Amino acid sequence: MLIELNEDQSLLRDEVRRFAEEVVRPLAKEIDAKGIFPRDTIRQAAELGLTGVCVPEEFGGAAMDTLSYCLVIEEISRVCASTGVILSVNNSLVCDPLTKFGNQEQKEKWLTPLASGELLGCFALTEPGAGSDAAALRTTAVRDGNDYILNGNKVFITNGTDADVALVFATTDMAQKHRGIACFIVAADTPGYSHGIHEYKLGVNASGTTELAFEDMRVPASQRLGEEGEGFKVAMSTLDGGRIGIAAQAVGIAQGAFEEALAYSQEREQFGRPISKFQAIQHYLADMSTELDAGRLLTWKAAWTKDNKKRFTLEAAQAKLFTSEMAQRVTNKALQIHGGYGYIREYNVERYFRDARITEIYEGTSEVQKMVIADWVLNKS
Ligand code: CAA
Repeated sequence: MLIELNEDQSLLRDEVRRFAEEVVRPLAKEIDAKGIFPRDTIRQAAELGLTGVCVPEEFGGAAMDTLSYCLVIEEISRVCASTGVILSVNNSLVCDPLTKFGNQEQKEKWLTPLASGELLGCFALTEPGAGSDAAALRTTAVRDGNDYILNGNKVFITNGTDADVALVFATTDMAQKHRGIACFIVAADTPGYSHGIHEYKLGVNASGTTELAFEDMRVPASQRLGEEGEGFKVAMSTLDGGRIGIAAQAVGIAQGAFEEALAYSQEREQFGRPISKFQAIQHYLADMSTELDAGRLLTWKAAWTKDNKKRFTLEAAQAKLFTSEMAQRVTNKALQIHGGYGYIREYNVERYFRDARITEIYEGTSEVQKMVIADWVLNKS
């Protein structure tokens, strides 16, 4: 495994960094404070190919590899974690499963507009009683001729406020537990599809998290993604890829906070000299930089494993576990280096600190990642 970016990847990183600095950063503070979903930014990101990074060109994507995708999510999250997760959901949790499990007709109809940014997607798996235990979901799908009728509720759906399309997981046979689950591609304007409350959160405030409710919602069987009973596999293998995206997001948030702290430590003077001259601060910076590199390498390893067509469940879980916890430590130290200024909204570090927290929760909590890792080291390696 090479730990050096190739020319295409380096160029991509530079281009995305420019976009992040010029377009995303100027809005980051305001959209966080006001909870504004940055639809126009996502449209501009789509023009650069960032809404369908790994999707084949014939379906409107940029046909890049997973490592490139990590660079995109890191660079965007380095300035705005909300924009980072919006893109990551559309890429990893919607375009990826459509690419992997969709038939030709589904790809033409749904994947192409989702990858090109004409439509935005969300991933509707979690329910009030089915979070970590995703197989316990209770949304039902009852076959009726050529259609299914869906009823149920979803919670904490990232992009839910603004998505045009949802991948909805529902059970056709509760008795079969995870083997009774199917996945459906559902347009948000389908009769019976409605939004519940828009959640007010600790962080990633611009990413539009909402409840979704389905009441006698009729979905054609042609919009079932994969077979009946295959939905849990679709969800799990999709989340393997999603966890690499969240690891990249955590690295981006930590990197952003680290850079703010590094600059501040060299400007801020106390006791007659910049605080970077004090060993206490130097040790913080040394730890932060080392942890960041370790997290980035784990993330790139997971991406490399996926790109090399090997099973990457273990690597993705390890990367997400480590980077999300690393991001707590790094953003916490960045805030500490800023002292009182780190605690007020004028400075960015308090936003990084708040945004980092969710990376330990969504797309599988740290405890779930440990379940996955332990299962691999005990039973599957
Ligand atoms: N890929 C493919 N198939 C998989 C798989 C994977 N990674 N992991 C498990 N499976 C299959 C198994 O092979 C098994 O299939 P068979 O019965 O046919 O052999 C089946 O799934 C059940 O496996 P388990 O018994 O291991 O499943 P479980 O019910 O014990 O659950 C779990 C395991 C890891 C805890 C899983 O439920 C899980 O990941 N939970 C967390 C859910 C989650 O991440 N939710 C995030 C919501 S989306 C989100 O957060 C988006 C956002 O906002 C940004």
